[in-house]
Amino acid sequence: MVKICCIGAGYVGGPTMAVIALKCPSIEVAVVDISVARITAWNSDQLPIYEPGLDDVVKQCRGKNLFFSTDVEKHVAEADIIFVSVNTPTKTRGLGAGKAADLTYWESAARMIADVAKSDKIVVEKSTVPVKTAEAIERILTHNSKGINYQILSNPEFLAEGTAIDDLFTPDRVLIGGRETPEGQKAIQALKSVYANWVPEERIICSNLWSAELSKLAANAFLAQRISSVNAMSALCEATGANVSEVAHAVGKDTRIGSKFLNASVGFGGSCFQKDILNLVYICECNGLTQVANYWKQVIKVNDYQKTRFVNRVVSSMFNTVSGKKIGILGFAFKKDTGDTRETPAIDVCNGLLGDKAHLSIYDPQVTEDQIKKDLSMNKFDWDHPIHLQPTSPAASVKQLSVVWDAYEAAKEAHGLCILTEWDEFKKLDYQRIFDNMQKPAFVFDGRNVVNVEKLREIGFIVYSIGKPLDPWLKDMPAVA
Ligand code: UDX
Ligand code: UDX
Ligand code: ADP
Repeated sequence: MVKICCIGAGYVGGPTMAVIALKCPSIEVAVVDISVARITAWNSDQLPIYEPGLDDVVKQCRGKNLFFSTDVEKHVAEADIIFVSVNTPTKTRGLGAGKAADLTYWESAARMIADVAKSDKIVVEKSTVPVKTAEAIERILTHNSKGINYQILSNPEFLAEGTAIDDLFTPDRVLIGGRETPEGQKAIQALKSVYANWVPEERIICSNLWSAELSKLAANAFLAQRISSVNAMSALCEATGANVSEVAHAVGKDTRIGSKFLNASVGFGGSCFQKDILNLVYICECNGLTQVANYWKQVIKVNDYQKTRFVNRVVSSMFNTVSGKKIGILGFAFKKDTGDTRETPAIDVCNGLLGDKAHLSIYDPQVTEDQIKKDLSMNKFDWDHPIHLQPTSPAASVKQLSVVWDAYEAAKEAHGLCILTEWDEFKKLDYQRIFDNMQKPAFVFDGRNVVNVEKLREIGFIVYSIGKPLDPWLKDMPAVA
């Protein structure tokens, strides 16, 4: 029986291994982590991450051929194939601070593998890492090999949160990169035969190691670039009276461009896009490719601009001050159908409004009060450490911030309402009821294009919706740069 071990039971490792276990009953899969709390949760009815369909998959396999454990060394020693899916935070100090990936956790995982291995291993990079990480890992392993043969593969994961299970069941492609030697090719075939249990052969792409590593960074950079492109257009739409949804629809009909990923928003978030682009920028700079680095940097700059522009719009619409005013925040997760808040645009928007002394009442169906308060007090990039660093700045004063469990409660007596995540339930709210309980004039700032602008204006709201023709009220307000 083939044994697989995955180091790191996070958003990638957990769901990916659960699906491998489900689709390959003859393979034993162990997911290990240094975090006792995470493993305990994976072994309970309350899984550590919210992902539609995941509970079902875990229930079907857990205890049969899927195991979650903190006994890292035992499972690594027994495995034939080891996936590594540990954190790769952005460095906050030293060389490459604010851009380069910190490979501390990767390196410690590699050294641990070398320490405990007693048989040949295929080591698979699953977390996104800078190009040429495989080479570094290979060196650590071979210089500590004690005669054991290691093959390193890069098998980046392309799942998106909120649709992880569907993405894993029917991936657009599976990418496996390896050495171009007979041993490397044999290792690629071994991993390919795992995926071949459910993924059609033509969707499994094989390449060299560096292509596989770079493809992952490139794919995320291209996706993020589409969002920054449509968000840049949204600013121009507001200035000219065009409607970004109509523009995106017309542009997307060109089959060379395609219709997906053209939704204007308050900005992209998530653990991958910004981090991977920063990484790409750093690699370009290290290779002397300044123009290329600057091109990709601009994708992040537009994303930051979009968040600032949103905050400015809120403040300028409300008579240039939100000081002491209650603002309801609907949605805190970085997208719908996840409880994940890593790099969510809501953090920057909320911090911007808090900086202008607004009182925020935040509601998200999947994010806890504890998490929101932690996010609003953490330094940038600190979220990506296995043991979160202590907040360095205190969370906003209790008076300025409350977290509630109901959208109507968040909106009650508020001057304005900001929609920051596109949860389906925000489309179905009783906006008349919300309007009746708000201060007047009542403002809605829709950062995700979820509300029916015309209907809300009929009710009496002053509505701002990203990239849509402006409310006459907003046209009279100072321009937002
Ligand atoms: C373009 C648009 O495609 C068309 O829709 C619009 O109406 C007019 O402008 P055109 O300039 O005729 O059409 O040719 P196109 O096929 O778009 O190529 C433009 C340039 O891009 C060419 O120099 C082409 O060689 C180059 N190109 C195109 C690339 O370098 N790589 C590609 O993948 C595609
Ligand atoms: C992304 C990639 O899609 C996935 O392939 C990769 O493996 C990991 O990174 P994820 O971050 O989970 O996945 O979610 P994604 O759906 O890509 O959304 C990222 C951000 O972009 C979210 O904040 C989302 O709201 C935003 N977004 C997405 C838009 O603002 N507009 C869009 O049209 C699409
Ligand atoms: P991703 O989104 O890439 O899956 P996560 O942060 O959700 O990232 O998951 C990474 C997991 O890796 C965390 O649960 C962390 O505790 C775990 N981890 C980090 N370093 C090690 C290590 N050396 N051994 C085992 N687990 C580790």
